[in-house]
Amino acid sequence: MSRAGTPANPLRDPRDLRLPRIAPPCGLVLFGVTGDLAAHKVMPAIYDLASRGLLPPGFSLVGFARRDWDLAAFTEVVRDSVEAHARTPFREDVWRQLAEGLRFVSGSFDDDAAFERLRETLAELDEERGTGGNHAFYLAIPPSQFAAVADQLQARGLASAPDGGWRRVVVEKPFGHDLASARELNAVLDEVFPRGSVFRIDHYRGKETVQNILAIRFANTLFEPLWNNHYVDHVQITMAEDIGIGSRAGYYDGIGAARDVIQNHLLQLLALVAMEEPTSFEADALVTEKVKALSSVVLPPRLDLATARGQYAAGWAGGHPVAGFHEEEGIPASSTTETYAAITLGVDTRRWAGVPFYLRTGKRLARRVTEIALVFKRAPHLPFAPTMTQELGQNALVIRVQPDEGMTVRFGSKVPGAAMEIRDVSMDFAYGGSFNEESPEAYERLILDVLLGDPPLFPRHEEVELSWRILDPVLAAWARQDAAGRGPQPYASGGWGPESADALLARTDRAWRRP
Ligand code: BG6
Repeated sequence: MSRAGTPANPLRDPRDLRLPRIAPPCGLVLFGVTGDLAAHKVMPAIYDLASRGLLPPGFSLVGFARRDWDLAAFTEVVRDSVEAHARTPFREDVWRQLAEGLRFVSGSFDDDAAFERLRETLAELDEERGTGGNHAFYLAIPPSQFAAVADQLQARGLASAPDGGWRRVVVEKPFGHDLASARELNAVLDEVFPRGSVFRIDHYRGKETVQNILAIRFANTLFEPLWNNHYVDHVQITMAEDIGIGSRAGYYDGIGAARDVIQNHLLQLLALVAMEEPTSFEADALVTEKVKALSSVVLPPRLDLATARGQYAAGWAGGHPVAGFHEEEGIPASSTTETYAAITLGVDTRRWAGVPFYLRTGKRLARRVTEIALVFKRAPHLPFAPTMTQELGQNALVIRVQPDEGMTVRFGSKVPGAAMEIRDVSMDFAYGGSFNEESPEAYERLILDVLLGDPPLFPRHEEVELSWRILDPVLAAWARQDAAGRGPQPYASGGWGPESADALLARTDRAWRRP
């Protein structure tokens, strides 16, 4: 040991993950191959992993869908998706190798014969391509269909692995609609798959900048001493999008911004910011701390004053006129689904008591940006003439999750000249400027971790249920407002959300950042 607790030879340390982690012989079965998620994220990420040399040579990708496709048609679909959306350049040699492992099974989820064909296909792949009985089932399908697929996999003996092999299941949000339905969903999965084999994807956890929250906090001495209610005035977590709902009316209507991203992405960010130092970065240790943080979250008593919601109206985006939410195809005029949501939360711990966490998200806002801002208290005393500090705001530490990944520290500095005038300035860290490698897509990291059976980045069912416990009272309050004819407030496309959201912070003399 060079120092207490530090192994002398880091190469012997199992936590040393610097060498490329290559997936073992295995395959992935993709349900929902015709959906957006598969085309935009999952299939391109698989290609990117292949082109980075992180998939085993015999890797297989089996598509399962109702379409009456043959293998050639499926192969073309995968290729189109890869060419259009992969992060890494298209290379014929990589593609050829990946294409050799493609298979397609046509059938619906109630078609026993189709699942029998799936069983035979996997057995053939084990034989021909050496996948060794190791298969992950990726359910890129609506949760209402999870039970049907899980039952079929169980009935065909596909849910449990042969000796020496593994079976895993990957599910995508929404993990339920509220606490009760999340519990039902968890029960369905737990009945068929052993707990450690269920991987819930929250793609924000796969983003480099999100993983970096723990590095920033726990690898440095600089920030952690300030990371508490002695210094932090409040925390703002923003996930703003400039796009509308596009062609996703069927999914989005009745779900809304809070269920779509606050329940998962934003509460995961909150947990990483609020949690205490874990004893290690193993899944159990991380979950323990995240669960403690989420269990400490409290809602203010007056939810009408502590939350805001809105729906985008027609306006302009990127120099083009855009439709309002109610004009989008598939959205009924009576819809009260929110496209913007802001919520005030408290974290009842010694570290955070008294510090509000403001979470907001919205579609058709001024720009696409996700950031976490710790806004600090003002200095207890300013030994300057008041006129000299007019342009001094509150210090802030901003973790820029996307798009220009990095971190900003904002503080006051003297303006050059004879007077002691103070103005806000920024100190910036940008990934692009400090590192040569481009960050992998979140789905690359997460799919690789599924194939490796590495669980730290996947929220556990306890976290999912706690997140619903936080959100359910808000959703109930909004439903009561709807019943009383007080639905979401319209906001202009291309702006920063409804007036009620500004009022929410203005009540305590605070304001949202305009990133
Ligand atoms: C998804 C939501 O989880 O995240 C979408 O369902 C949203 O509504 C998307 O557009 C945003 O992801 P990203 O990675 O582009 O921030």
